[in-house]
Amino acid sequence: MKNTEDLLIVDAGNMLFKTQNMTSLQQDEWLLKSELLLKIEGEIGLDAINVGVRDLTNGLSYLSERSEKYKMPFVSSNLVYTKTQKPAFNEFVIVDVSGIKIGILGVTEGINPKPNDVDWEVKDYKTIVPQIVKKLKDQDCEIILLLANVGKEQIEKVIKENTDINFAVISGNQEQTSTQIAGETIVFRTKDRGRSIGIAEIGKSKKSPEKMFVDLTPTELAYKQALEKLEKNLGGSPEQIKKEAETLLAKIEDSRKNKNFYKTELLDVDTKFADKKEVKTQIDVVTKKVADFAQQQKLVQGIDPNKLFVGQAKCAECHAKQYNFWVETSHAKAYQTLVKENKQFSVDCVGCHVTGWEENGGFSNPYQVDNLKDVQCESCHGAGKAHLLTSREDVDAKRKTITKVPAESSCVKCHTKEQTEGFKFPVHKQLIACPSGK
Ligand code: HEC
Ligand code: HEC
Ligand code: HEC
Ligand code: HEC
Repeated sequence: MKNTEDLLIVDAGNMLFKTQNMTSLQQDEWLLKSELLLKIEGEIGLDAINVGVRDLTNGLSYLSERSEKYKMPFVSSNLVYTKTQKPAFNEFVIVDVSGIKIGILGVTEGINPKPNDVDWEVKDYKTIVPQIVKKLKDQDCEIILLLANVGKEQIEKVIKENTDINFAVISGNQEQTSTQIAGETIVFRTKDRGRSIGIAEIGKSKKSPEKMFVDLTPTELAYKQALEKLEKNLGGSPEQIKKEAETLLAKIEDSRKNKNFYKTELLDVDTKFADKKEVKTQIDVVTKKVADFAQQQKLVQGIDPNKLFVGQAKCAECHAKQYNFWVETSHAKAYQTLVKENKQFSVDCVGCHVTGWEENGGFSNPYQVDNLKDVQCESCHGAGKAHLLTSREDVDAKRKTITKVPAESSCVKCHTKEQTEGFKFPVHKQLIACPSGK
């Protein structure tokens, strides 16, 4: 797929798995997904992909097999086989982009092999980085790019000590993508598992001192906004905006001609690429396979008879007023939301769009959702079996067997930081709190 010679595509690692360990429930689905990600990244035609700790979730043997199968240019400067001390993947990669020689190295944090895996170890990146940088310099690389799956502070320290590194891309548990400067090095931070693509345009000029790169991103953005203002007549004096735009354009042209510059842009993979026909077909195939696996699984949760989830229909029998309110909230449509995306059988999705997922008295097989579709009463008020078993007339017993005011902790298992940015319990609670009375 890759067809332009002036494009460099890299991945900083942690592409394949969500965590370092997976349960047997996750295994089938995650392996299928990782296979799909490899296939897609293979077709995109990456130049280098760093090995992150979470790429080793299923072992090094697995990763090196897949690396060969999909011809993935994995790079790891500090991952070696214990016996031979030979690098497990490419120690570094050199790529020619528009006649500029770019040397790429990759490092990961220290982790240990799993039992049954081949013997390998992770060398201390602090000693490895300067050695590889020197090798790349000796081979006349003009730009040095470090890919790292290492904690932010630690890696910035290494970057500041190795001033020959021009660019670094850091992956890991990064919440957002951004650019920043460490010493003189430009650092890009990324999301994991290919969820976003950061595009950086980099220009090098013979006239400029070697290490200085100007960030053109804000200037180009301001220019674009000025043009938009003019076009749509969005206020301000047109004369003045025109003048501003001209100044900005002159600045951009000068930088592009005479300076080292870079420019960044972020694409969300979910929205931009999932619609591409060939990608969509592959996703559909995996979704179907995931569903087949799930159907084969016979998973039973431990069941405490007092903690059984009973489903909203029961509650509605006595709490019609609250039911009528709830059914209008989006919690009552949460399952349908997944169905629309054809994701109702994915163990990565279903848990927060149903009731009692992986809870005592709940369920853990997407095919056994039965009457627990949607975020129902019991997601907030707790499993209802004991409440049902008490006599309707014994109001005290009824009250003792159910939680009236849900705690914040009941919300945030679904409204995680990642899911709901800026979740504020008192504010959000107001929006979904059932009315009082009969
Ligand atoms: C047979 C009727 C009946 C059913 C079925 C029933 N409840 Fe209740 N519920 C009551 C009565 C009676 C009370 C106590 C009086 C009151 O607070 O309204 C009560 C109280 C409550 C309270 C308030 C507790 C308090 O401390 O004031 C909540 C919350 C509640 N029920 C939720 C549920 C949920 C969730 C379900 C379904 C799992 C459910 N109820 C099923 C009859 C019922
Ligand atoms: C089992 C997971 C789960 C729990 C528990 C949960 N939510 Fe939600 N919540 C969701 C999902 C999923 C949606 C989006 C549903 C959709 O649009 O399909 C949502 C939507 C919402 C909305 C938007 C409501 C609307 O009608 O537009 C609010 C507000 C909200 N939740 C607040 C809360 C609060 C407060 C709690 C705790 C008292 C809570 N939620 C507990 C999963 C959950
Ligand atoms: C950790 C809990 C959690 C998981 C896992 C989860 N969701 Fe959700 N989902 C939510 C919550 C909470 C909302 C409510 C929207 C919000 O707060 O941003 C939501 C909303 C949605 C929406 C409504 C549109 C939107 O974005 O607001 C869609 C579609 C959706 N989820 C699909 C999925 C899919 C597909 C997966 C699996 C890849 C998934 N969800 C996994 C909790 C979750
Ligand atoms: C997203 C969380 C959530 C869901 C889902 C939910 N509730 Fe509630 N419910 C609340 C909150 C919050 C309150 C208000 C508690 C308070 O502050 O008094 C409440 C209050 C109640 C009360 C007490 C009313 C009173 O008289 O004070 C009952 C009964 C109740 N809910 C029943 C239900 C039933 C039945 C369902 C399902 C049809 C349901 N709830 C679904 C969050 C939820």
